[in-house]
Amino acid sequence: MFKRSTLCLIACLISSHQQSTSTAGFFLIDDKPCAKRNYGSENIVCVCNMTYCDTINRVLPLSSREYIIYTSTKAGLRFNKTKGMFDDEAQTDGAHFFVNLSTTYQTILGFGGAFTDAAGINIESLSMKAKENLLQSYFSKEGIEFNFGRVPIAGCDFSTHEYTYDDAPGDTNLTYFNLTVEDFFYKIPLIKEAMKLSKREFHLLAAAWTAPPWMKTNDDYSGFGFLKEEYYEVWTEYLIKFLDKYEKEGLYFWGISTGNEPINGIIPVNRFNSMGWTPSTQTTWIKEHLGPALKKFDPEIKLIALDDQRFMLPWWINKLMSDEEVASYIDGIGVHWYWDSWFPACLLGWTHQNFPDKFILATEASVGDKPWDFEKVKIGSWTRGEWYMEDILEDLNNWVTGWIDWNLALDLKGGPNWANNFVDSAVIVNASANEFYKQPMFYALGHFSKFLPEGSVRVELSAEHNGGIQSIGFLTPDDTVVIILYNKLNSDSSVSITDSTRHMNIAIPKRSFNTVIYKAMT
Ligand SMILES: *[C@@H]1O[C@H](CO)[C@@H](O)[C@H](O)[C@H]1NC(C)=O
Ligand SMILES: *[C@@H]1O[C@H](CO)[C@@H](O)[C@H](O)[C@H]1NC(C)=O
Ligand SMILES: *[C@@H]1O[C@H](CO)[C@@H](O)[C@H](O)[C@H]1NC(C)=O
Ligand SMILES: *[C@@H]1O[C@H](CO)[C@@H](O)[C@H](O)[C@H]1NC(C)=O
Ligand SMILES: *[C@@H]1O[C@H](CO)[C@@H](O)[C@H](O)[C@H]1NC(C)=O
Ligand SMILES: *[C@@H]1O[C@H](CO)[C@@H](O)[C@H](O)[C@H]1NC(C)=O
Repeated sequence: MFKRSTLCLIACLISSHQQSTSTAGFFLIDDKPCAKRNYGSENIVCVCNMTYCDTINRVLPLSSREYIIYTSTKAGLRFNKTKGMFDDEAQTDGAHFFVNLSTTYQTILGFGGAFTDAAGINIESLSMKAKENLLQSYFSKEGIEFNFGRVPIAGCDFSTHEYTYDDAPGDTNLTYFNLTVEDFFYKIPLIKEAMKLSKREFHLLAAAWTAPPWMKTNDDYSGFGFLKEEYYEVWTEYLIKFLDKYEKEGLYFWGISTGNEPINGIIPVNRFNSMGWTPSTQTTWIKEHLGPALKKFDPEIKLIALDDQRFMLPWWINKLMSDEEVASYIDGIGVHWYWDSWFPACLLGWTHQNFPDKFILATEASVGDKPWDFEKVKIGSWTRGEWYMEDILEDLNNWVTGWIDWNLALDLKGGPNWANNFVDSAVIVNASANEFYKQPMFYALGHFSKFLPEGSVRVELSAEHNGGIQSIGFLTPDDTVVIILYNKLNSDSSVSITDSTRHMNIAIPKRSFNTVIYKAMT
C-alpha cells in the first residue's frame, strides 16, 4: 500500500524545503511534511512512527499587507502553507466575504480530546519515541495545540472492564475508595506529559459515567438505573474524593460535569456505563449536595450541566435553570455531537439566548458510532474529516465556545471497549507496526485548534455570495484575524475576502479545509 514513490516524494520534499528555507522565505520553516499513505479512493493518512512525524508550526504574517493560508485537501495536502499579499480591489467573480471586527460573538475556551483508558492503552502500546510523536502531534507547538483534556472518572465503555473507584457493596464511608491501575498507568502520566508539552494554559474536565452499582436502583453499571436518593451525599463525596486524589497527584481540574449522558440511564439503547437522571432529580442533587460541595472544595471549578445530546436543549437546561440556586452553581453546558445531523443548530442559539452568561462547550464526538456504520474505523476517510469540519463550523457559528473530541487514540478495531461499542478516532494506533495514523479528522480539528487559542473571539463574517463555501471568522488575543473556509464541492473556487480597505483574492481547492490568517489593522 505504501509505495516507494511516496517515500521518494517525502525525501524530495524534505530536501527541497531544507534548501528553500534560506532562499524562498520564512514560511517553510522546519515543518516536516505528511508521510502519506493512501488506503484507496483518496483515503489518506499521515503515518508517524518512532523516527518520523509531520509537524506544523504556526507562522505569523510579517506585515499588514501579507496573509498566510494553510490548506488541507482530500487529494492529500496537509496544512500546506502559502502566503500572499492583499490587493487593492476584490475580484468580481466567485464568493465574496466581508469581515467586521466590530461585531463580536462568543469567546473561545479551546479544543481537546479525552484521556480514556482505551486512549492510554493504545498510546502506551507504542515505543517511547513514537508515543512522544503522538503526544507532540496533539499538544505541542509543532502539533495542533490542544488545550483541553477530558478525563472519565473511573471506567467507561472505553475501558477493558467495568469498574468504579469503590466497588465494595455498602461502603457508605468510602473506606475502600481508591484510584486504579488505569489512573496510574494510562491517565495520570499521559496527562502530565501532555501538559508539559503544551505551551497553552491546559484545562482538565472530569465526567463520571456511573456511580458504583450498589448506590443505584438497578445494582448495575449500565442499563435503566438511577442513583438512589439515600446516596446523593455519598456520591457527591465520591466525586470530591476523586478531585482530591488527582490534586494529590498534582493535577487540578478546571471543570467537572454533572455526569456523562444521563439519558442513557433512562433510554438504555446501548449497554454501557451510564446513570440516569432527570432535570428534576438533578435539581435536587445539585442544589442540596453537588453545588455546595464543589464550592467548598474549589470555588473556581466550573460545573458543566447536561454533558449529553443537542436534542435535549433547551428544555433540560431550562428546567435546571428555573431554580435560581441551581442556576448559580452552573457555569456552562456540555453538548455531544451524536445526533447533530438530525437536530438543528438553532437549539444551541436558543439555549444561548435563554442563558447568555453560561458557556456552551462541545464535550464529546466520534464517528462510526451508529449501528449502521459497518466500518467502525475507516482509515483515511476524508468524508469523516468533513463531518468533523462541518460540525465544528456549525457549533462555533451557533455560540459554542470549544470542541472536545472523544478518545485521543484508538486501535485498528476502534477499541478497546468492553461493551464492543467501537468507534473511529482522529488518531489510530497500529501497535504491531509501532506506528500511528493521523486521519483527516485530526487535520479538521487542527484547522481550528492550532489557530484559535483560548480568548479568541468570533467576529462577523458575512457573505454577499458564498459560492457553497462554509466559513467562520475570529480575532485572536494577539490581534490576528483567523478565517476558516471549507469547500465541500468537487470544484475549485475563487474567493475574495474584504476587511475594510484590504482585499484578498484567493483560490480555494476542491474538497479542502483552509485557515487564513493575517494581522488585524490596529
Ligand atoms: C518511519 O517513517 C519514515 C517516514 O515515513 C520512514 O522513512 C522510516 O522508514 C520509518 N521507520 C520505521 C522504523 O518504520
Ligand atoms: C502548497 O504550498 C506551495 C508552497 O507554498 C504552493 O506553491 C502551492 O501552490 C500550495 N498548493 C496549494 C494547492 O495551495
Ligand atoms: C460592523 O459592525 C458594527 C457593530 O455591530 C456596525 O455598527 C457596523 O455598521 C458594521 N459595519 C459594516 C460595514 O457593516
Ligand atoms: C461509617 O463510619 C461511622 C463513623 O465512624 C460508623 O459508625 C459506621 O459504622 C461506618 N459505616 C460503615 C458501613 O462502615
Ligand atoms: C490505593 O492504590 C495505591 C496504588 O495502587 C496503593 O498504593 C494504596 O495502598 C491503595 N489504597 C487503598 C486504601 O487501597
Ligand atoms: C498494521 O501493521 C501491520 C504490520 O505490523 C500491517 O500488516 C498492517 O497492514 C497495518 N495495518 C494498517 C491498517 O495499515
